[in-house]
Amino acid sequence: MMYRLVFSQVLRRLDAEAVHRFTVSALALLARLPLVKRLLHRALAPHDPALRVTAFGVHFPGPLGLAAGFDKDAACAEALSALGFGHVEVGTITAHGQPGNPRPRLFRLVRQHAVINRMGFNNAGAVAAARRLRRTRSVPVVIGVNIGKTKVVPESEATADYVASAKELAPLADYLVVNVSSPNTPGLRNLQAVSLLRPLLTAVKEVADATPRRTPLLVKIAPDLADEDVDAVAELALELGLDGIIATNTTIKHDGETGGLSGRPLKARSLEVLRRLRAKVGDRITLVSAGGVEDVDDVWERLLAGATLVQGYTGWVYGGPLWAAHIHRQLLRRVRRHGLKSVTEAIGRTA
Ligand SMILES: Cc1cc2nc3c(=O)[nH]c(=O)nc-3n(C[C@H](O)[C@H](O)[C@H](O)COP(=O)(O)O)c2cc1C
Repeated sequence: MMYRLVFSQVLRRLDAEAVHRFTVSALALLARLPLVKRLLHRALAPHDPALRVTAFGVHFPGPLGLAAGFDKDAACAEALSALGFGHVEVGTITAHGQPGNPRPRLFRLVRQHAVINRMGFNNAGAVAAARRLRRTRSVPVVIGVNIGKTKVVPESEATADYVASAKELAPLADYLVVNVSSPNTPGLRNLQAVSLLRPLLTAVKEVADATPRRTPLLVKIAPDLADEDVDAVAELALELGLDGIIATNTTIKHDGETGGLSGRPLKARSLEVLRRLRAKVGDRITLVSAGGVEDVDDVWERLLAGATLVQGYTGWVYGGPLWAAHIHRQLLRRVRRHGLKSVTEAIGRTA
């Protein structure tokens, strides 16, 4: 309620990227205050065992995490965990630091509860992110690391570029994501074609498998893939023994500003892709659902449809800082109301 008022009276009038930068800085500051962070974590993070889920050998305190793109440089993951996210996917991180596209590159579509972005993987690069990820932590946080291609690297050298990031970051990640689905790096989504994706994923998997804990590897796909291509990626993921698929990234199917659209308008297609993937892979690999998740009903629906983990970004922009904590609390109530012992029992129930 309070956030809605602040949003409608103040935030929506400010430049979207300026608000984003301010929020990351505030959370990075919070990350330097261990006591405050611990208190927030105690109050807001999911603690009830009934909310816990395990995926690819990693224990998550709750199924709802923050999707990639907010904490691009791994600057404030602990603070985000303290606010109630069950995991934080940092990145997209590229092997070489890069400024991203010219501004403006982030636009709110308030009436649609959506966002368009063409950030273009602005980030300080894999070495800088690795330095941050090595810092000691004062609250628990599950961190996924999402990697992408450096813009100036040609498509023919993409594999080496991803491998360089993976070598730096896989040892520091609870899971690693190969992002081939962002619309704002020219040619990136071509890598979703199985003929290009197979050698890329094979090479990155070799690196992920070689870390002391064997880092789980996932691939993140676009909602704009044709259904047959969704199936093809699912088959490839099974063939290569990947740990999971994240569906979906933003869509380019809209008539607004150039860039990827996220939030409410993406909900139906994201759910459709999840259902398709579940029909193809069953529970053989983990499905992570992202796209238009706004409230506990959406999270519940994704779990029932077969997602083990659910991610949100735009829903958080409109829902406010306590969004994840609030949803986890409601989810716990729902689990109990359905007479389930754990949220895990809901996964795939309607699949
Ligand atoms: C501003 C913004 C930046 C994003 N940056 C990335 C990114 O760097 N890498 C990535 O894999 N996805 C990125 N995404 C996509 C989200 O991770 C997510 O897949 C997508 O927004 C759908 O979820 P949502 O509807 O809850 O926002 C970004 C999304 C937004 C809104």
